[in-house]
Amino acid sequence: MGAETVLKADNLKRYYDVKGGMFSKGGTVKALDGATFQLEAGKTLAVVGESGCGKSTLARLVTLIEKPTEGELILGGMDIASAHSKEDMITLRQMVQIVFQDPYGSLNPRQKISDILAEPLKINTKMSASERREAVLSMMSRVGLRPEQADRYPHMFSGGQRQRIAVARALMLRPKIVILDEPVSALDVSIQAQVLNLLTDLQEEMDLAYLFISHDLSVVKHIADDVLVMYLGQPVEHGTRDEIFSNPQHPYTRALLSATPVADPNRKKERIKLVGELPSPLNPPSGCSFHPRCPLANDRCKAERPVLSPTSSAQVSCHAVEEGRS
Ligand SMILES: Nc1ncnc2c1ncn2[C@@H]1O[C@H](COP(=O)(O)OP(=O)(O)O)[C@@H](O)[C@H]1O
Ligand SMILES: [Mg+2]
Repeated sequence: MGAETVLKADNLKRYYDVKGGMFSKGGTVKALDGATFQLEAGKTLAVVGESGCGKSTLARLVTLIEKPTEGELILGGMDIASAHSKEDMITLRQMVQIVFQDPYGSLNPRQKISDILAEPLKINTKMSASERREAVLSMMSRVGLRPEQADRYPHMFSGGQRQRIAVARALMLRPKIVILDEPVSALDVSIQAQVLNLLTDLQEEMDLAYLFISHDLSVVKHIADDVLVMYLGQPVEHGTRDEIFSNPQHPYTRALLSATPVADPNRKKERIKLVGELPSPLNPPSGCSFHPRCPLANDRCKAERPVLSPTSSAQVSCHAVEEGRS
């Protein structure tokens, strides 16, 4: 039996209209331009790509902070477009929680840890104060914090501990999905591994689906079941962790991997260097938006936008791969 699908996204788009300034023209930023994927209970989908490719925009859509410009988002069987009542929105919001890169910025410095963790329960449940206290202490122990730390304030904790607090807060309402937006990027490498192990244990215990956003492939390699590689708001490759790391197809994925020291040692070392800057999503290149930086690009790539299609390995959006030019 396959795992339970807890979220489906179909051709999700989010555009922003921006006004021009003294030195720039206004226009439409296609921050996210057609993401399709699903999340399964107990599994991790990693979303990778350079800064500005639309990862946090995707996180804002999935956490219902913003509405998609286009496309379908189905959460726990309910299409968010048809969730009109307040009750529906509350149910949907509780299903998805988020942990940000910087726990210090997202934890109120004036609140004790016990209050930070009790707050979601206070707002969303009818639990009594003593029930809340019990739930808080039990969650603290699950994430590796001691009971006597409950009355301390965020600044009294290390970065790794603060991220444990942020994870605990995200789990208080028993979500099905947790969005992890660069959750270990601000931590020392030694601490990163501890937090990643914690996340893996909690996922197993609570059957959580993770959407794990990261620019760091060495981290993704440890935690992902599936990987979605994004470039300028569009998915360019989508496959299992092994497909992406052992047999990457898209020139962009290959370039990202050749810049990562942990790439599969059995794989022939490639040297695909990314040339040039990431173009502005306000004025993306024609055809395949990767073509100005791609060593395999030809005239077709300049003119025609490729679509994600199956290959012998992952799904890839690339004319060169399709034609065997790679
Ligand atoms: N509210 C907004 N208005 C205009 N442009 C935005 C807005 N939010 C994000 N963008 C632009 O959309 C693109 C994707 O941003 P983001 O999702 O934050 O990328 P990432 O998280 O991958 O770094 C960037 O070019 C960013 O400047
Ligand atoms: Mg971001």
